[in-house]
Amino acid sequence: MSSIAFLVNGTPVRIAGEAPTRTLLDWLRETRGLCGTKEACCEGDCGACTVMVTDETGSKAMNACILFLPQLHGKAVRTVEGIPGPDGALHPVQQAMIDHHGSQCGFCTPGFVVSMAAAHLNGDRNHDDVLAGNLCRCTGYAPIIRAAEAAAQAPVPAWMTADAAFLSAKISSGGPGGEAPPAAYRPTTADDLADWYLAHPDATLVAGATDVGLWVTKQLRDLAPVGFLNGVAELRGIQAQGDQFRIGAMTTIAELRSAMAPHHPSFAEMLRRFASAQVRNAATIGGNIANGSPIGDGPPALIALGAVLHLRRGAERRSLPLEDFFLDYRKQDRRPGEFVEALTLPAKAPALRIYKLSKRFDQDISAVCGGLNVTVENGLVTGARIAFGGMAGIPKRAAAAEAALLGQGWSAETVARAAAAMTQDFTPLSDMRASAGYRMETAQAMLTRYFHDLAGAPVSVLEVAP
Ligand SMILES: Cc1cc2nc3c(=O)[nH]c(=O)nc-3n(C[C@H](O)[C@H](O)[C@H](O)COP(=O)(O)OP(=O)(O)OC[C@H]3O[C@@H](n4cnc5c(N)ncnc54)[C@H](O)[C@@H]3O)c2cc1C
Ligand code: FES
Ligand code: FES
Repeated sequence: MSSIAFLVNGTPVRIAGEAPTRTLLDWLRETRGLCGTKEACCEGDCGACTVMVTDETGSKAMNACILFLPQLHGKAVRTVEGIPGPDGALHPVQQAMIDHHGSQCGFCTPGFVVSMAAAHLNGDRNHDDVLAGNLCRCTGYAPIIRAAEAAAQAPVPAWMTADAAFLSAKISSGGPGGEAPPAAYRPTTADDLADWYLAHPDATLVAGATDVGLWVTKQLRDLAPVGFLNGVAELRGIQAQGDQFRIGAMTTIAELRSAMAPHHPSFAEMLRRFASAQVRNAATIGGNIANGSPIGDGPPALIALGAVLHLRRGAERRSLPLEDFFLDYRKQDRRPGEFVEALTLPAKAPALRIYKLSKRFDQDISAVCGGLNVTVENGLVTGARIAFGGMAGIPKRAAAAEAALLGQGWSAETVARAAAAMTQDFTPLSDMRASAGYRMETAQAMLTRYFHDLAGAPVSVLEVAP
């Protein structure tokens, strides 16, 4: 038997014979007639396709356009058609959208309503943050935010919690209907994954599909065979191990952000600006690293922290400093059949700061992302880890700048010399995000900003008064 089982608006469904990279959006619209979930960008950017997905970790807004059906096995999906009550009673966020004139043409409205309903369920009142992944072209955001604020006080309707109860009773992750469709493999243990990937080294691994999904929806690539990692519980989660954290490859960016907030607040603050809530709820840190993008936001922060990457190939395991994983543009030190299991990083790094520079504050890819972590003892620099994304073909340490700091007094003059040395470290490119000159100047300015930041000056655009 090859089938996938999940709930759609409270009704159990079992699917067999679908292509492993069939998106939830296409399936909802084409086979279930659930056309309230809109298709627009098909690349995770606009939120028109937002659905609520519930599993044992909670209920989250996600983009249906870049979710493959096997990722939903054992979960519950609620589309906009499932947001009103069974008797047609409007959800408080729907009523508030009417009362506050939150919809004009209406195309974006189902996506907004699902994002708002998921946040309402979770008690998340940071409406700007929650809705950064939903784009509206005509209403304007003020009435929508007013609607979200107005609905916040209303109690959660009973039907919105029904999925979680039904899930644990009837379909839990890894429960019945465990097999994936043909040409797809959905292991539930890391050992099974290791054996299968060793035997199928050309397969595509799918974690959250926020990169891989676009290979299908935009590049129309056939990815078979496909291995889905979302059933492997051992790859998930964060454990404290002495003075380190071990972070499973399948830990989502949303989970990482919450876990890092008390320990590495600057890292967590940067993760708030990683894509949107919908993407962060699906995207994993393992996928961010394995994808090897020179503008991925995870690696500069993790390299500055001194993270160690743990890889597995069959029964063999090895570990390496994260910076050594990135060899050349889109070329990583990963052998056929080898996958990312986890990374470890120090629990404490009080001087760590992460600065993300992008054209938009929210939901944008970095032009430059800097991770800075300098240790100063008795006025002298005794350690320096400075890494940038967007400055080279790989996320890369600024070796010459670090050397210019080490052993020197921590002063504005030393910092200026280190910033000047950065020209030996990088020859950035010009592209649509930034010119080479702008990249160099802003990377150097990040070091100056860091100096003032550690001295207690306000440096965030949210803190600095105009
Ligand atoms: C709208 C949008 C906005 C985005 N914004 C940002 C942003 O602000 N910052 C940013 O850094 N990125 C951003 N991204 C990119 C993407 O979300 C991240 O790179 C994400 O972390 C990828 O994780 P994933 O789990 O979705 O990986 P997937 O798409 O599932 O996989 C990515 C790659 O990694 C491989 N892979 C996944 N897991 C493993 C593993 N355990 N071992 C070996 N290989 C593996 C896959 O085979 C694939 O090659 C954005 C994407 C979208 C769609
Ligand atoms: S259609 Fe735009 S995010 Fe899915
Ligand atoms: S109401 Fe038209 S796009 Fe939002």
